[in-house]
Parts: sequence; C-alpha cells; structure tokens
Amino acid sequence: MSVIGTPLVRRDARLKVTGAAPYVGDLVVPGVLHGVFVTSTIARGRIAAIDSTAALRIPGIVQVFTHENMPRFGKIKGVPGQAFLLMQANEIQYEGQYVAFVVAETLMGARDAARLVEISYVTEHPRVDFRRHLELEETVTDFAEPDTSVGDVRAGLAAADITISSTFRTADRHHVPMEPAGTLAEWRNGDLLLHDATQWGYGVRMVISSALGLPQERVRVTSTYVGGGFGSKGFAWPHQLIIAAAAMTLERSVRGILPRALTFTGHGYQPATEQEVTLGAHRDGTLLAIRHRSVNPTSIGDEYPEYAAMGTRSVYACPAIETATRVVRVNRNVPTPMRAPHEGPGMVALEIAMDELAVVAGVDPVELRLRNYAETDPTSGLPFSSKALRECYRIGAEKFGWAARTPAPRSMRDGSTLIGWGMATALMTTFRFGSAARVTIRRDGRVVIETGTQEIGTGVLTIMPQIAADALGVPVDQVDLIYGDTDLPEAGGTFGSATTLSVGSAVLDAATRLKARLIELGGEPELSPAEYTEVLKLRGLEQLTIDGGWSPQQGNEYSMQCFGAVFAEVRVDERIPIPRVSRCVGCYSVGRIINPRTARSQLTGGIIWGIGQALLEDSRVDPVTGRYLSKNLSGYLIPSHADVPAVEAYWAEEHDPHASALGARGVGEVGAVGVGPAIANAVFHATGVRVREVPIRVEMLL
Ligand code: MOS
Repeated sequence: MSVIGTPLVRRDARLKVTGAAPYVGDLVVPGVLHGVFVTSTIARGRIAAIDSTAALRIPGIVQVFTHENMPRFGKIKGVPGQAFLLMQANEIQYEGQYVAFVVAETLMGARDAARLVEISYVTEHPRVDFRRHLELEETVTDFAEPDTSVGDVRAGLAAADITISSTFRTADRHHVPMEPAGTLAEWRNGDLLLHDATQWGYGVRMVISSALGLPQERVRVTSTYVGGGFGSKGFAWPHQLIIAAAAMTLERSVRGILPRALTFTGHGYQPATEQEVTLGAHRDGTLLAIRHRSVNPTSIGDEYPEYAAMGTRSVYACPAIETATRVVRVNRNVPTPMRAPHEGPGMVALEIAMDELAVVAGVDPVELRLRNYAETDPTSGLPFSSKALRECYRIGAEKFGWAARTPAPRSMRDGSTLIGWGMATALMTTFRFGSAARVTIRRDGRVVIETGTQEIGTGVLTIMPQIAADALGVPVDQVDLIYGDTDLPEAGGTFGSATTLSVGSAVLDAATRLKARLIELGGEPELSPAEYTEVLKLRGLEQLTIDGGWSPQQGNEYSMQCFGAVFAEVRVDERIPIPRVSRCVGCYSVGRIINPRTARSQLTGGIIWGIGQALLEDSRVDPVTGRYLSKNLSGYLIPSHADVPAVEAYWAEEHDPHASALGARGVGEVGAVGVGPAIANAVFHATGVRVREVPIRVEMLL
C-alpha cells in the first residue's frame, strides 16, 4: 500500500499540543536585546516633536529609534504591502503606526522606556469608514484583473423571468494566530540572521535586503515552528524591517515580539466588503446573467484589493457574467489576504443571492446549483483541470441528510427552537508557485529532504516525507525533512493553499530523480529499495544528493479551482434568537489527498474559520479616532469549543492530472469558503429572516 493516502499523525503534534514547539519568543540567544514599539495614537496627521530624553535615562537602555535617527530604507522589491515605509518621516497615516522602537538590555527596561518617549502630534481628521466615502472608489490593478466581463449582462437581465438584486456586507476580520508575529535578528559579523514567525522566509529576505541595501547572501531567514499565520505572516511587515535595521545599526542581536494588541495594526487584516449581486434567471432558476461588484477599504499609502467577486467568474454556467473590484482609501493599516481571501468574503454574497433565487424559483437549493452546474469555466471558457463538485453535492447532501429538509422557512423545529438547514457552494482558485527541493540518501539508508518551506501548522513535516518515501519506496520513518531556512533550496510561501501541490511536486521530482540515479549507478534495470545502500557502497559513496524542482508551467490551459458543497444546521431559540450552529458538513473536490488526517484537519479548521465569519468575527473601528475598538481576544470574538459543533469534512476521490505533478490541488482554504452563506441560508430557513450581512447577530433576528 502506498504511504500517500495514509493518515499519519503529524510529527510535530505532541510538541505543538504540549506547547513545547519553540516560537520566536522562546528562542534563547545570548546577549539579545529587547525591542518595544511605540505606536501612533492618532490616525492622521504628523509628528510635531518626538523627545527620547527621558527614555534614554532608563537603566539598560540602548537606543530609541525614531524617524529622526532610523536608517533610510531603500525601495522594497518583490513583496507587496510596504510602499509606505515606516519611521522614515513624520507623516502619520493610521492609528497604531510605529513611531519609535525602543531597544534595551531587558524587556522590562524597554517597556519602561517606551512609556517615556514623548510625542506631540499635529492631528488631522481621519477618513475611517469606507462606506461613507464610496464616491472615492478606485480601481487597483496590481495583483489581478479587477474587472471581467463576458456576454451581455444587460440583455440577460432584460430577458430574465426572475431578478434578484441585493447588497451584502462582510466585516473587517483579524487573523489572531496563536503566535503573534515577531522577529529575532541576530547580527553575526556583518550578516543578518533572522529567526522569524513567517509564512514566507524568502519574501522577508527580499524585503530586508532591498530595504537595507544588503546583498541577499548576507541575509538569512529561518523559521522552525510558526504558531499559525492564516495569511497574517504571508507578506513581510514593518516590524521585521525595523527590528533588522536596529540590529544592523547597533551591531547587536535584537528581538521584538508584537503584543497581541499590536498585531491588529502591525500586520494586515481581512477588509470588510460591500457587495452588490444581481442575478437574472429563467423561471426554472437557470441563470441568464450575473453581476457582482465589491468594494473594500484599503490604506492611504499601500494597496490591497479584496477580489471578492473572483469566485463568481468561475462557479456557475451562465452566458453573461460581470465582476468588478474597487477600493476606498482610509486611514487604517493596509489589509492583506486572510484564510480564504477573495472567494471567502465573495461567496457569502453570491451564495446568499443563490438561496434567494432558489426561494423565488421554488427550487431546492442543491437542485438549483445542479441546474447551473458549470462544465467549463464560464468566464475564461477553459475546461477545468479536474472537477468533482457534482459528487460533492451528492456526498455532502447524503452525509447531512438533506433529503429530510422541508423547504418552507420555520417549518422545522424542536420545541421552541427553530431549526434551519442551509447550503452553499464553495470555490477557491488554485494558486501555484515554483519550488525547489533536494533529496539525499545516506549510507545508513536515511533519506533527507531539504526545502526552504515553512511549517505554520499544516502538517508539512509529515506530508513531505510521505511524498519522498512513496517515490523511493522506502519506509516513511526513514525520511527526514530539513526546512525553514532561506539557505535551503527555495520554496514558495506557505500561502494560497499551494504548499502541498507546489513544494510537494518539487520533492516528488527530486525523489524520483534520486531513484533513477540510483538505478543508473546500480547498472541493472531494476533496483529494490533494500539495495539502495548496496549501490552507494559499490560506488564508494557516503551519500547521494539530487536536486529537483517544479514550476507551474503545465496546465495553464485549464481553469484550476477547488470546490466544495457545504451544509449547515442552525438552531435558533424563538424567544432569544441567538443563532447557533449545531452541525456542519462539507464535501470537497481538491484533487488527490496526500494525508487524510492532515487534510481533514485543514478542511475542518477551515469550516470552523467560516463559523467565525458567519457568527462572531467583527473588528470594529471607532469612526472618530480610527482606532480598533478591541485589540484583544476578549472583544474580538473567534469560535471557542462551545461555538463549534460536530464538523465533518469529506472529499471526492480525485486525481488532478494538470494542477500539479502530485495530482493534488489545495485544502488549506476552501474549507473556509461557503460556510458563512450556508449558515446565513440556514438562519433564513429557520427564522424566515433574510440576513445579508455577516457576522449574523441576535439583533438582526429580533
Ligand atoms: Mo493564506 S490567506 O493565502 O495565508
């Protein structure tokens, strides 16, 4: 039996659950200095004066960096999110912006000194709420196509028997990973070695080297155990640069860990969206036209568009589809991708609109999706690399027991508790990147994979050895992984649900080449894995190393999407209508599954993430001061155990021949798509109240 497809337990599981996996804050480095950030209390204006005199009197103080004495940074290349460089001038664009970085021999000393930095500001009125400034919307073209159009939407709507036109809202959300972002920058004889909580070590290296004018060979970034990222550690942020600059200037090692509150402004967030969806359909629910438009806030000095209408381009067969993305600049930190970016917020709108259509057309919601099933990508016209969504609707409905649903709202109850069943489609694009890997076999039979990927909690330490062991035909416990270091063969960032398919394909390539080389050295047409070490001995080799790689050159003539069908049950007490999820079932079409245990964990984790989107997560900003109202986990609510019911994830058996050499697509994010609208649709079914905004709160149901 192949080790691929075996539900191996994560190698780092025990370390993680016992808290023994060291994060950046746990590392012990002799002589390390401690850095604390001072942040702007205003959201717009400038620093009139900054005085470090009192701070510099604290015992053990080493330096107070401000815009006045911080080295001047070069333009950052290759990584988005830092067009506006911090601590270079006196301009303030958002509350929480770093204005000073205090470095001392002890953390307590740095904290004390940070309180004594005196700053006066010239304050201007901040622009905070993007919804009040929709007239300022802009088109951003930096990342992807903001607008698409196929067919004639106007004509489609004119010919439609049924038109649905609604406005939807999703909230600002923060990633709040267990490990807050932080960096330890070691200064080693003119070289920088960063131990970083990052999803993309090579990206951090690019930022540091371009901004500080250091050649890339002099900057090395390592990460061992990263305590979650969900997108917040995907790009590089100002703290990494400032900490590295401090280490370089002081020629000492400096560590800075963001306190939880600073993670709300120190890195990006998922921006709120305001979306308009218009559907035109025949009486039987078949679609004639879709228009989907989304606006999100972005920052003054940087750009991040949430392409919320992206999924709508590919999900349903429809002759006319228009999508558009706009941004409005406000005095806030720049947003960034957060688990299931784009389609995550976007499918909330499309899939609630589809439920509205199902109600008006009098068609079962699953049947409505099947009537509009896309056999090819409706916008690009390309065939799908692989798609088993029909199977997902069937399996998901069966596991959930959908057939027992009675269609009328308020028709299912348990005493005074209304029960609602809702469903939605999930879709998430397949992101791919080039990666390299090296595989070595030693005389003692041990196999070592080297690749500079990151472990953010996805199971990569277990999956990569499975892939190499399978290719070589050796027992998986004979295979080790060395990772998390920019000195290793370059792997892409751990984001976009792309690590297994991209890095895994590079590992597969290296291991396959290694096996071929061993056979060649053996001189016989066949070689059993037990004979590998014999070949090394025969050839007088201590070890044999082969480099491999993979890049997404193939398959671009296909539309690559991950799909899912999500079914949710909510229970709503009639007297106090707090919506609670009691069951959630998802079935996914994601290509080949390498490790069912880690894949299931990713998918159920995504579903839980979606429960947060549907019912809890909402980062409110004070409209006057531009300050997040709650920069902590007591006010920013995420699902706790009591909020999470039985969550089940299944998948269709599938092997995608085009997306990757492995046959895999991605499982990291699609689980977080479709849950929000499935829950909103279940709430409608339970109560008869149509909510077009998440999170859904009790007052919306009163
Ligand atoms: Mo994910 S939002 O691509 O880290």
